[in-house]
Amino acid sequence: MAGYAVLASGSGSNFEALVKTLAAGPHRCCVLIGDRAGAGCFERAERLGVPAVLVSYAKDADGKLDRLSAERTLTHTLEEYRAELVVLAGFMRVLSPFFVHRWKGRLINIHPSLLPRHPGAHAIRDSWESTDLELGVSVHWVDEGVDTGKLIEQASFSRSGIQSLAEAEEQIHRLEHQLYPRVVRRLLDELTPG
Ligand code: GRF
Repeated sequence: MAGYAVLASGSGSNFEALVKTLAAGPHRCCVLIGDRAGAGCFERAERLGVPAVLVSYAKDADGKLDRLSAERTLTHTLEEYRAELVVLAGFMRVLSPFFVHRWKGRLINIHPSLLPRHPGAHAIRDSWESTDLELGVSVHWVDEGVDTGKLIEQASFSRSGIQSLAEAEEQIHRLEHQLYPRVVRRLLDELTPG
């Protein structure tokens, strides 16, 4: 049995898919960490009975985002809840090399495109507006770059028959909700052999 933590900034639909799909055990979501008060992921955590912690990114005296102290709090929280795998699911912060190094080999992300195509914050729209014949999603290890880490697994579908960006988006999220729990379960199984 291993504990995984989910980090999210928004609605948290991937978080919910993870918790529900893995509910049969043996692994459990030990904590949901969000960086935005009032985000949908907190309401889901409450409904699902998962402990939730808000880690705010405050500004320092010069008005600069104090990323390092937020990341220290993140690390503390992850240690306190004994997270063995850190699962980013719509966490809209760039993580510093300090944090990435601390969680190396235990830090993963899901991205709504077939990486290395369409990294960044507008991946679904960029994929839709491209000439790509396939759309899809990627789960990858997190490194110091943005959406550049080594791929773990991808899933895709043909865009033929998809009429609109909204439809593409819906299909991409459906695929995420299938792929992410499967990959997370496999990684957790590998972390706790026997
Ligand atoms: C997902 O599309 C994920 O791939 C991306 O952010 C979105 C988060 O959605 N990184 P949700 O908050 O899980 O609903």
